[in-house]
This record gives sequence, structure tokens and C-alpha cells, in this order.
Amino acid sequence: EKDGHDWFMRKEIFEQPRAVADSLIGRRTTAGLLALDEMRLADEEIRDLDKIIIIACGTSFYAGMVAKYAIEHWTRTPVEVELASEFRYRDPIVDQTTLVVAISQSGETADTLQAIRHAKSQRARVLAICNTNGSSIPRESDAVIYTHAGPEIGVASTKGFLTQLVACYLLALYVAQVKGTRYGDEIDEIMVQLEAMPDHIATVLEQAESVYELARAHVGTRSVLFLGRHAGYPVALEGALKLKELAYLHAEGFAAGELKHGPIALIEDGLPVLCVVPPRGRDQLHGKMISGIQEVRARGALTICLAEEGDRKIEPYADHLIRLPQVPVLLQPLVAIVPLQLFACELATALGHDVDQPRNLAKSVTVE
Ligand code: F6R
Repeated sequence: EKDGHDWFMRKEIFEQPRAVADSLIGRRTTAGLLALDEMRLADEEIRDLDKIIIIACGTSFYAGMVAKYAIEHWTRTPVEVELASEFRYRDPIVDQTTLVVAISQSGETADTLQAIRHAKSQRARVLAICNTNGSSIPRESDAVIYTHAGPEIGVASTKGFLTQLVACYLLALYVAQVKGTRYGDEIDEIMVQLEAMPDHIATVLEQAESVYELARAHVGTRSVLFLGRHAGYPVALEGALKLKELAYLHAEGFAAGELKHGPIALIEDGLPVLCVVPPRGRDQLHGKMISGIQEVRARGALTICLAEEGDRKIEPYADHLIRLPQVPVLLQPLVAIVPLQLFACELATALGHDVDQPRNLAKSVTVE
């Protein structure tokens, strides 16, 4: 049942190329347009949208953070991302021109369910991104995009996260198509890039052994930091969450630009810092990330850098280098999170923890 793997989580990490491919199947019509069958919002409603609010918890929230970058860039529609548990309590400004997007793998998360009930009471339209057919959140939503990860058994979300990202990109492209903020050929080009992602993810998985080795070398580590920028920032947060929940280690993700505003004080000799380096295409981003990495390394950090193939500039500043395929910055989370999942899974295993059933956690959080 685990396909020869020791943990469901590890099996699910290796299923990600398939899960991403399945979540993309059937989304393009012969006319080249995007079709989202389960989306039940009229084009007119989409054209009238003033704002999108994404609500979710945990890993799903980080998928929402990535979605914000993609939706705003491709559709020019303002996006807020909010923790479901906070949403209701701040008297959010929501009306019929607001689309609330609830992201939930299980579809049963109580905080998220309560948040969409509140949004509906304020007349917002609600769209669910969900992996579980017929669960509460899609049932109570106006529209749904189902992800096709298949059942996720490991408590820590992996393929659930990747397929949520895919659904978010599809939603962004769909809104761009309906609103006319992107031309058909641009949308087509991004779809082609998305359709190449399963192979790219498989390429990253080929490096599993070297990531495992690195993870096992960190058995005595008490704290790990993660740095990212732009779409790599949520990846840093998600990488840190995986390590907390599985290895029970202190782990924190930071936006690299925030370093000098405080977190750099944490850097001490030998502290491992995992850095998600953006592709070189976005020059400013890349250069700024490198200077952040330089700063922490100068203060003794041990830098483990995830950087695209062919990036030579990072080499002098990386104690360890994990190569990522060359992909656009907005899609990079789909490949960049994979080594971080492998790292957390292997380190937790080496520490003797139950990876599939981490202490104190439940797969479905049905109480607020
Ligand atoms: C982390 C994890 C949790 C969930 C969160 C939301 O690995 O699995 O943080 O992402 O509890 O769950 P869903 O997506 O089911 O609403």
C-alpha cells in the first residue's frame, strides 16, 4: 500500500508528478480555452470582481500566498490572503463583488468552513479549492475546483499542496481569460509551462538521495531557518512548517528582505539556513537574494541553497547546492518545495519520529 516506501508521506512525495499531471488534465478545450468544469461562476460575475480574498490554514494558506502573486500578476485583481481563523474576527470588508477562495485539502477544516459561512452571510461569492469530493467546504461553496491529488494519508500535506498550487494557477489563468487581462497565446504559453512541471518535479525527485544525506547530517541540529523572496517566500514558510511538524525542530521561514529588520540577529556559527533562490530571469530578485545569502554566510550560517540549473552566481555562497530546473518564478514553488519535503521527511525519520502520524496533529482539524 506504501508502494515499497517506509511512509505514506514519502510515497505521496513521489506521487507528485502524477498528482500535478492529473490536476491539469482536461483543462484545455480544443479551442485552446481554459475550461474548469466544476467552476460555477458566470463570466459576468468574474468580470465584476473587485477583489479576491483567499482563506485557508497551514499549508493551504501558503498555497494561497503563492496564488496571490500569480492572480495579481496575471489578472490585475487585488488579492488578500488571510488565515481562516482570523478572517471572521476582524470584520472583513466583503460584498457581492468579492470572490472568497477557500483552499482546503480535506474540505472539513472548521476554521475555513466558519470563514466561508461568514463570507456568504456578507453576500460574497465563494469558490472552494479542495481535494475531497463532496466534503463540507465545497458543498457550501458556489463553485469548486477539485484537485486530483488522490487520497492523502500522511498527516503532513505534500501532494495536496502541489495540486492546490496547480488549481490556483488555473484559477488565475481562468480569471485572466474571462477578464481579458492576458491574451490567449500568453495563457497558452503558461499552460505549456505548467504541463512541463510533472517532468521537472520528477527531475528534482531524482536528487532525493543527496537531499537525504544532507538531512541525516543535521540530526543534531536544534534550529533551521528558511529564506525566500517573492513566490519563494511561501516556500520558505512551508519548508519550515514541514520541519516543525515532522522533526519537532525549531524552524522559521523569513522573507529574505526582512533579514536586516531583525531575524539576522539569530544567525550564529553553523546555523543551517535553507535558501530558495529565485530564477535569474528576474534579475533584481535574484541579485537581492544572493546578497541576503552573503550576509548570513558572513555571519557563520551554513547555507543550503536551492537554485536553478546554470546559476553560477550562487556557487561561491552555497555550502550545499540543490539544483532546480529552470522554470518561471511564479511556477518555481512547484519544484522548490520538493527538496524541502524530502529534507523534513528524512530528518524526522533519522530522529526516529513517526512521519505519518506526527505527535499532537490530526489530518482533519474539525474543531476551531
Ligand atoms: C501541514 C498541514 C496542515 C493543513 C491545514 C489545513 O502539513 O497539513 O497545516 O494544511 O490543517 O488543512 P486543509 O487543507 O485540509 O484545510
